[in-house]
This record gives sequence, C-alpha cells and structure tokens, in this order.
Amino acid sequence: MNQSGKIYLVMGVSGSGKTTIGQLLASQLHIDFFDGDDFHSVSNIEKMKSGQPLDDHDRHDWLKNINTLASKTLAANTSAVIACSALKKQYREIISANLKESIIWIYLHGSKELIQQRMAARQNHYMPVALLQSQFDILEIPNESIKIDISLDPQTMVNTILQETYKTTLGIVGLGVMGKSLARNWARAGVKLSLYNRFVKGVEEQVAEKTIQAYPELEKASGFEDLPSFIHSLAKPRIIFMMIKAGKETDRFIDEMLPHLDAGDILIDGGNSHYEDTKNRIAFLEKKQIHFIGTGVSGGEKGALYGPSIMPSGSYEAYQKIEHLLYAIAAKDKNGNPCAAYIGPEGSGHFVKMIHNGIEYAEMQLIAETYAYLRYVQGLDPFAIAQVFDAWNQGDLHSYLLESTVQILQKKEGESYLIDLILDVAGNKGTGNWATIAASELGIPAGMITGALFARYVSTIKESIRHIKQASITNIHSTQLSIDTIKSAYTAARIINHQQGFLIIKAASLEFNWNLDLSNIARIWTNGCIIRSRLMEKMIPAFHDHYELFEYPEFQEESLRLKPELKSFCISALEFDLSIPCFTASLDYLNSLSGMYSTANIIQAQRDFFGAHTYQKMNDASGAFYHTEW
Ligand code: 6PG
Repeated sequence: MNQSGKIYLVMGVSGSGKTTIGQLLASQLHIDFFDGDDFHSVSNIEKMKSGQPLDDHDRHDWLKNINTLASKTLAANTSAVIACSALKKQYREIISANLKESIIWIYLHGSKELIQQRMAARQNHYMPVALLQSQFDILEIPNESIKIDISLDPQTMVNTILQETYKTTLGIVGLGVMGKSLARNWARAGVKLSLYNRFVKGVEEQVAEKTIQAYPELEKASGFEDLPSFIHSLAKPRIIFMMIKAGKETDRFIDEMLPHLDAGDILIDGGNSHYEDTKNRIAFLEKKQIHFIGTGVSGGEKGALYGPSIMPSGSYEAYQKIEHLLYAIAAKDKNGNPCAAYIGPEGSGHFVKMIHNGIEYAEMQLIAETYAYLRYVQGLDPFAIAQVFDAWNQGDLHSYLLESTVQILQKKEGESYLIDLILDVAGNKGTGNWATIAASELGIPAGMITGALFARYVSTIKESIRHIKQASITNIHSTQLSIDTIKSAYTAARIINHQQGFLIIKAASLEFNWNLDLSNIARIWTNGCIIRSRLMEKMIPAFHDHYELFEYPEFQEESLRLKPELKSFCISALEFDLSIPCFTASLDYLNSLSGMYSTANIIQAQRDFFGAHTYQKMNDASGAFYHTEW
C-alpha cells in the first residue's frame, strides 16, 4: 500500500470548476497542479474547437498520458492534483492502471443549468457550451469518490475535500489486548486507523489516546471515546472492526452505533461470538442494508500483533471489500499465502473458530496429562519434562502449544518452578462449552473436547479434589513406560482429537449447507493460530479429497498402529490414579469404532422394553422396525 504519494484527481464535466478547485487544493496541499487538458494532442483540440465531440479513440492516448504523469509523480514519492473530466468508468480505469490505491477521485457535481451559466461566462476556452450535453450523456458517476457540490464556494469545497481525504480506512472498537495488538499490526501495514474505546469514569478513560501515545506505530491513528465522532472520521463505506466482549455487550454496542451508520457500511465482529448470534446479527443488519461479518481471530496477543489466523463469514460481497485488510495483517502459510480465507455464509466463521478452540482445549489437556505422567509417574522435574517436549517438538509432533509448554516448564520464580506456584484451577471463557454443545446437537462424538472441558470444570471443585488426592496415593505395581511409548500415545491421541474436531465442522457444513472447505480451513490453521502444528500441515492434502481424517488411510492406519502404546499409556496412568480424560476418550473412540464388542443392541432392546421405541434387525435389508412384547 503506497502511502507516501497521492494523486488527487478532480473530475467532472466541462465547466464544473475542476481547474479552480484543483489549483486551490494544490496550493493548500503545497503540491503541483496539472490541468489534464494540457495533455491533449493538437488534433484533439482542433476537433473540439470545430464543435465535434471527442470519441473514445481520441481520448485513449490522452488518458494514457495522464496515467504516465500520475505514475511519474508517484514514482518520485510526491503527490499532485490533476484535473481531468474522466467521465466514463473505462477512462478512469486507463488513468488509474496500476495506481488504484494511490488515486483519490474527487467528483464535482452540479446542475446542467449552473454549469451552462459558468461556461457562458468563460472566455478563451476551446469547449463550446453546445458540447456540454454530450458530456452529461456519457457521464458515469463514480461510486468510490469524494462527491463535492459545486454550488458551494470554492474554499468550502476544498475544505470538504480535505476533511474527506483525511478520513480513515478502518475503525477499531475495543482496545483490550487483542484490539490494541490488531491495531498495531494494521498500522504497521500502512492502514489509516480510527481507534475507539468506551469511556467508563475512573476505569477506562482516554484509552484510545493513551494507546496511541504508547506505541509509535500508532502515531498516525486518530483516537476517540465519542462514538459519533469516531464513526464520522471513517471514509465511506465505513469499515468497523469490533473486538469487544461477546454476547449482550456486542448487541448493545451495535444498537448504539446504528443511528450513525449508513447503508453499505460494514461491521466486523472479531470476538469469540456464538455462531448463532452472528447469524442473527447478519439477518438483522441486512434489513438495514448494513453488512455484518463475523470472524474468528486466533493467535492470542502475539498472533494479533504479528499475524493471526482469520476466519471470516457472512456476505461474500461484503467480504470482498475487506479481504485486502485481512490479508494485510494475517499470518502467512508455508507458501506465503495469507492464513485468512472466506469461510462461508452466516456464522460459519465463528463456528469454525469455536471448533478450533474445542480442538485447542483437547490439545492443551493432552499435553497436561502427558506432563502429569512424566512428572508424577516418571518422577521427572519440569525442566526434564521440558527437554522431553522440546525433543518431540523438533519433529513431527511440532506444535505451537507444545513449544509454549516447553517455555512454561522452564520458567522459574526464585528457587521454584513457576508451574508449581500456579493454582491448579482452570478457567474458561465458554467456547469449549459451546463446541461440546454443538457436537452434541449435531450428533458427533467429541469425547476428547468434552473430556478436556470437564477436566477444567473438575479442577474448580477444589476442596473435594484435594480430599481425594490425599486418599488416593496408593501402592501400585506398574512398570513405567518408555518415553517413546508415551510419545506414540500422544501422537495417536492428537490424530483422534483432530478427527473428532473436523467431524463436527463437516457435520455443521452439511446441516447448515455451508459448503465448507476443510482443506482450506486446515491451511489457514497452519500458522498464526493457537493449534498450528506440523500435523495440521499434513492434514491439508488429506482434506483435499476426503471429508474425514479417518477416511485418509495414513491417519487411520497411524492411529491404529499406535493403539497398543496408547493403551499401555492409559493403563499405566490409571494404575497410578492419574486423571487422563482426554487420553482415555481417545482410546475409547478407537475401541468403540472397532465395533468388536457392540453395546448399542442392548440400548435398543432396553428402549424398546420400557418405551416401545422399536429396533431394527441385523442383516435385514428391508430396514423394518420391530417391537417385542418383552
Ligand atoms: C485463540 C484462543 C483465544 C482465547 C480463547 C481461550 O485462538 O487465540 O483460542 O480465542 O485464548 O478464547 O479460551 P478459554 O479462556 O476458554 O481457554
């Protein structure tokens, strides 16, 4: 994005005042002014003098001359004002070829009568009044332009142009950790920003101004705590990115903004909103001709600052208008493509982010359970465990979460490992809960996500846990496992976690007709987000032609091949009274999929026994339903 030079292209029909306004604007900006008419060929001028209108052929070379002038100006890192009628879209395309981002179109509009009067008073000009109608005939009013009414006095017109020109491209609402970091990322990408944070007396005062002062890259941003001024500082159509608390607060804020918004404005919700809320907001705002994009943003503070993974959904038309802004800050995959992609309609972006978090919960819990085994069964200290994890992280088990845990385990406070000083009660903000509910509603067995979520819940029942802990230090005769066995168990459980998580996405795609591209979702999760890993990279080709990870032989075979180690790990950990809900859920998934020891027939019989719910029979091609008087 070239921010150093700009071409202010003042356009409109002959007699609209392009030269007067252009010259005044240029003098106030202390830049050069060029009259496009000076770049006509002699033959064009002769033709106009003789009363004949120019045709497209006549105009082509002239417009190319203006493009060359603009290109040279920008290449010299300077700005200029150019006056040129540029009446048709195709003319403007010739002028702006390869320069789109750097041209500010200023369209001077007024009635034909007023322009006729002005032209009649003009002396020594080759354009006769009679040709004015031909100009109005071909005029195509530009959408993306600053429109200025020529009945205003010249200085007011120029003031308005300057005011509009300095409008910003993107508004960010909410300057907490994520909002602030995204703002810094966008500022570094050269995007002109308006920043808004609410005013709460004594708690949140002048947050936007203070944020701007704290970070040099935000120097050019404008800060607000007055909502109407913030909204009016943005160029139209306004693009406003919200990073505020999900739920009612988001609705309250949308309501507060509504009276100040115009048709075509685009609101983006980057928080962890529930996908159904996003769907409802899209529908509600559509009626007011306001676009709403719900987007998952993953990567925590560092991701937001240096490149998150971004999962937007909603109207594709609106998405196209903001894609360049998302690409400007997103992380890059191995091929250098942005880890941001249109996910689908409705709240599919937030749905996908919610499942990302579900997978994240189980990935975190698997590491925690492995840590517990290495610490309490193998007797390794945190530093030694960090070394084990670090070695795994060098190979196929590489992941951001494993890498982070290596650093966590090495951290000391005084003589103690910090991990030993942290209260063992886990918090959550709700997305794991929603993911579990969604899996359940869609009929997808996601025992690992559920296990990870419930492990957090169990940790909050502090007193009873301490009581059981004391009672459970038992004398176990178990052989400790080799590090390689533990590694294999962890490898298998991770594959099963991703199998379960992606199955939920697949089910939602079918249920809601979202047509989600699982391979592309895996791709945008290979960098920037919390669950980025080498395994994720391997999943991109798998999802090219398979809709489930387990349909892809490599993944199914690997998890089955590693099942004996997974089983040994679970048995050993349980013998030591360790709580390993994610590992046992992964093993249980493989056992139940094998179908060897079926139990569902007993359930069906019981249902029929007490509720006459009927059952079907094995090898019965008719698919008939039976009921028995038990
Ligand atoms: C991410 C994270 C992020 C946040 C989670 C944590 O992808 O960047 O998932 O969204 O850290 O919301 O959720 P819990 O507080 O529920 O663990």
